[in-house]
Amino acid sequence: MTEQSHNQEVSRRKFVAAGSMTMGALAATAPMSMAWAAGDDRIRVGLIGCGGRGTGAASQALRADDGVVLYAMGDAFSDRLQTSHNHLSNQFNERVDVPEPRRFVGFDAYQQVIDSGVDVVILTTPPHFRPDHFEAAVAGGKHIFMEKPMAVDGPGVRKVLEHAQQARAKGLHVMGGFCWRYNHPNRECYQRIHDGAIGDVVSAHSTYLTAPLGTKPRQDGWSDMEWQLRNWQHFNWLSGDHIAEQACHAIDKINWAKNGQRPTKAIALGGRQMRETPESGNVYDHFSVMYVYEDGSRCFHDCRQMPGCWNDNTEYLIGTKGNCYVNSWGPTQIIEGPNAWEYEGPNPNMYQVEHDELFQAIRGNRDRIDDTEDMMTSTLMSIMGRMSAYSGQQVTWNDAIESTDRLGPATYEMGELPVISVSVPGRAGSWDEWNGTAT
Ligand SMILES: NC(=O)c1ccc[n+]([C@@H]2O[C@H](COP(=O)([O-])OP(=O)(O)OC[C@H]3O[C@@H](n4cnc5c(N)ncnc54)[C@H](O)[C@@H]3O)[C@@H](O)[C@H]2O)c1
Repeated sequence: MTEQSHNQEVSRRKFVAAGSMTMGALAATAPMSMAWAAGDDRIRVGLIGCGGRGTGAASQALRADDGVVLYAMGDAFSDRLQTSHNHLSNQFNERVDVPEPRRFVGFDAYQQVIDSGVDVVILTTPPHFRPDHFEAAVAGGKHIFMEKPMAVDGPGVRKVLEHAQQARAKGLHVMGGFCWRYNHPNRECYQRIHDGAIGDVVSAHSTYLTAPLGTKPRQDGWSDMEWQLRNWQHFNWLSGDHIAEQACHAIDKINWAKNGQRPTKAIALGGRQMRETPESGNVYDHFSVMYVYEDGSRCFHDCRQMPGCWNDNTEYLIGTKGNCYVNSWGPTQIIEGPNAWEYEGPNPNMYQVEHDELFQAIRGNRDRIDDTEDMMTSTLMSIMGRMSAYSGQQVTWNDAIESTDRLGPATYEMGELPVISVSVPGRAGSWDEWNGTAT
């Protein structure tokens, strides 16, 4: 099928599919979606960022719906793409329909995947690139699964928000990778919290205390850029630091408990105590944040990536009528007080649930999925925590969302890229300076 006839077929099927949807969903998805909407045909998926999570997400997409095919792949590096392709081909055989001409390598690979005739994209590069990739995917009319966080800085968050409006107008599904929102036990627990099981949530404390992620020592022949990309979790322009890259899951749980209420400001401490090697880059190894809300309530978050320490990934909620503990690693979800409860139901793989629901929605069997609002709040809260810890200052919601401090180089090429120095709180006078200077 040519690109043009494919688009005509899509329009026809979209109309047919709309008949089976609720009116609300119809209004939300029908108007201008250029991407595949429903029918009994193939849904073509493009994978952008073929690493661990991207490969996992692609396999979950392929398991979600028999009509899904992996149709194009893009990565900064051919070896990463090839490893992912081999892995997926071995599992899914001809449903991995990605011949050489639809394997794209380099910084513009994302655009080539988007232009290759796919219906859905999986955005799983380091988060620095997410806003640009999201913008291009929306412009191309693609349904989107994008991993958390949605950006690493205020300008990135603003860019995603701006294009999320267009995604809405086009009826595109946008799913975010805050996977605990797709975890059945957590869903039931937070629903009970929202229904008042512990009364008003007075305070929440979430932790993400864990061992460090693996590092990649520099190899001969790697440029600065290649080394930083291959070791991206440890460079703050690429990851947003571990508070934004990893602990954002636990910050998202505060956001979930507060039902989307935005904190007015963050006051944070943080530092880098045990990261000493060059490959540990310029990120901190611990943060502690207090979020202050309009009504004066306060929520707290601690995260740490250090070896040999006590680890924890729990949210502790204090309510006017009881308490709640959510341990995602346990997993345990417990409510104490007059409405005491403990989850005892099934716990299907939340990553699979994400893709099952996304493809059901694309098929027209669910209302439109749009995770951008919650994803934005949790991402920006994480960024506020980092900005406050790096600077040693209070950071308001507006400071973060209006920030013009864009992390990372203006253009991308596999060449020189000096490492930015580690931020020292209280030393400098602007966000740019607080983010350090090139060494
Ligand atoms: N929800 C979760 O539980 C979960 C778990 C792991 C990772 N993640 C998220 O998934 C994303 C990817 O993490 P990962 O663990 O798969 O990392 P990874 O390093 O395994 O994969 C990232 C891939 O992106 C490629 N890449 C880098 N820059 C690129 C560019 N500009 N264009 C195209 N490709 C590029 C890399 O070469 C690599 O193959 C991150 O945002 C991370 O936070 C989420």
